[in-house]
Amino acid sequence: MKIIMLGAPGAGKGTQAKQIADKYGIPHISTGDIFRANIKNGTELGKKAKEYMDQGALVPDELTCDLVMDRIAQDDAKNGFVLDGFPRTIPQAEALTAALEKIGQKMDFAIDVDVPDENIVNRMSGRRACLNCGATYHIVSIPPKQEGICDRCGSEIVLRDDDKPETVQKRLTVYHEQTQPLIDYYKKQGILQSVDGTVPMEEVFRSIVAILGE
Ligand code: AP5
Repeated sequence: MKIIMLGAPGAGKGTQAKQIADKYGIPHISTGDIFRANIKNGTELGKKAKEYMDQGALVPDELTCDLVMDRIAQDDAKNGFVLDGFPRTIPQAEALTAALEKIGQKMDFAIDVDVPDENIVNRMSGRRACLNCGATYHIVSIPPKQEGICDRCGSEIVLRDDDKPETVQKRLTVYHEQTQPLIDYYKKQGILQSVDGTVPMEEVFRSIVAILGE
């Protein structure tokens, strides 16, 4: 099963994608997590990506597409994958469609997690992320057991640099200009499904499972 998660920054794509990956036994591929791991490890890609991410801008397609195509060609993605944060532009979506067509495949579902902008800024200021294992928390709705420490790996959890309110605003603008058009792109391909992302996360997940099947 090959799934794309669509939605504004902070809509809950990552939260849902992790659960989908667990339930259906497919890898969760998050371009944001891949870039953050590269930043943490001080790679060339990480240095380049950071310049864009800190501004709330998108990392250029030429740095992003090959990375994803290589990742989905790996063995563990043979039976499917859930893409979180990719594609984010029409050229990225076209590159993905073309790469899959070459091997006689196509995406099965594009799930749009719909949350209005007004809910987003609030969510992001409360989010805390583990830069070591990628787990996410919210200081009110999903606090860690011990304040400031990741339940999963024991590392420190932090407010991401790009979750500061002024950068979130910029990311929302970029989302509406460059990523929202993908909703129509996948509607035309006949694989778009929308879920209400404003309800509690367990309910969001139930709606997604109703779409994907048990
Ligand atoms: P990325 O890491 O992909 O960030 P994003 O898309 O902006 O999404 P987020 O991770 O911020 O949010 P999310 O929707 O996953 O929400 P989450 O589940 O964490 O990308 C970061 C940057 O990398 C980009 O800005 C760009 O620069 C670059 N980049 C990445 N991919 C790229 C690409 N393809 N091309 C170019 N550049 C790229 O939830 C958010 C919070 O809300 C959490 O605290 C969570 O606990 C809480 N929450 C979740 N669901 C609910 C709910 N139902 N109710 C209440 N709270 C909830």
